[in-house]
Amino acid sequence: MFSISLALSGVLLLAAVLAARYAKHPVGTTIGWAAGVTFLPLCTLTIGLTAVWYQAAFLVAGLWVAAALGYSRRAVPPVAVGSFLVAYAILGVSLVGKEREYARLRAAYPFESMEARLPRPAPPSAPSDSARLERWEQEVGDNTWGRHRHLATLHEDTTRRFVNSAGFGVARMARVEPTEETLDPGPRPDVPQESDYFNPGLAAGPQAGAGRPDPVALGKLHDAGFLDFVNPRGFGYVRDRRHVAGFQPHEFTRVPGPAERWAVARLELVGLLRHDDPVVYVSASLPRMDALRDAPTRPTDPFETAALAALRAGADLHVGDGPDTGRFVGAVRSTRQCLECHGGDRGALLGAFTYRLRPAR
Ligand code: HEC
Repeated sequence: MFSISLALSGVLLLAAVLAARYAKHPVGTTIGWAAGVTFLPLCTLTIGLTAVWYQAAFLVAGLWVAAALGYSRRAVPPVAVGSFLVAYAILGVSLVGKEREYARLRAAYPFESMEARLPRPAPPSAPSDSARLERWEQEVGDNTWGRHRHLATLHEDTTRRFVNSAGFGVARMARVEPTEETLDPGPRPDVPQESDYFNPGLAAGPQAGAGRPDPVALGKLHDAGFLDFVNPRGFGYVRDRRHVAGFQPHEFTRVPGPAERWAVARLELVGLLRHDDPVVYVSASLPRMDALRDAPTRPTDPFETAALAALRAGADLHVGDGPDTGRFVGAVRSTRQCLECHGGDRGALLGAFTYRLRPAR
């Protein structure tokens, strides 16, 4: 943008100097050129160049004053040079101000390294249901617009930001200008207090008369939980594993479900990445990584241990039977969007959610 802007400004300057010398009506000819460089890019390149517009506006105004004072021909070159300098000076000053604001925002959303937070990549696991993985990938999305794009602009190098700056050209689709509002992810909704959530009495054992939960409905409940927990909007801008800006830790914001006649009575995260052996984080509320980092853990119970073995062998859900009716474990696998931070392979098991169900009311 900067080079196009500068080239057009140069054309206008040259046209004015030549018009002063050779044109029959130097003022009229120069104004004609000023109109040309202002509107031509809009038609051909679909961009408007703010610097060139400023220059053209100052030039036309200057020439109008000069003509009124009776200095038309002689005034053209100095007015042309002056309008060029003033236009670029104004934009330069506004860009310096903007850079200062960006430096402040960069300090608020600095690059963080994920390395200490994620000490190990996910161990390999057998291939799982590829349709589910593809569906998850679609739902997680590519996340290249909105907040992500603003964080990227904030962290791209200054020269690039300068030459791409809106001052030197505005693409039809407005150029992203990171601001406090566009960077702030806003609070995620608080986990609602469910009066009977975590009531151990309700979560215990098989539920007489409720029947066996339908695995398809449980799968949908788990898919919704997965998306809520990983929170793709909160990934921020991931340049690489050591440079992540604006990351919001994963967390649940609501109790997923219900699935047909079954509601979730308890939901815990089985962690595989931060401890040598699988652990279940113990917490009084739904899993939130910022709270779980220092939370106590318990070992997996026999049902969960069997479930993990099934998930590692490629299953996505392990649904309980007999005395474990009303329990199930769902796999949390790496989609391609997770790899940058988590390493390992696509489809690898990153963790699991362990659910206890109760009859929905
Ligand atoms: C921008 C980086 C980033 C991305 C992208 C990311 N994660 Fe994470 N994830 C982390 C960090 C960091 C932690 C460790 C907890 C913390 O520090 O917040 C973590 C923790 C986890 C855990 C808990 C691990 C444990 O053992 O405690 C799971 C499960 C998980 N992520 C799943 C996913 C999945 C699935 C995706 C992709 C859909 C994903 N993450 C994408 C950064 C990321």
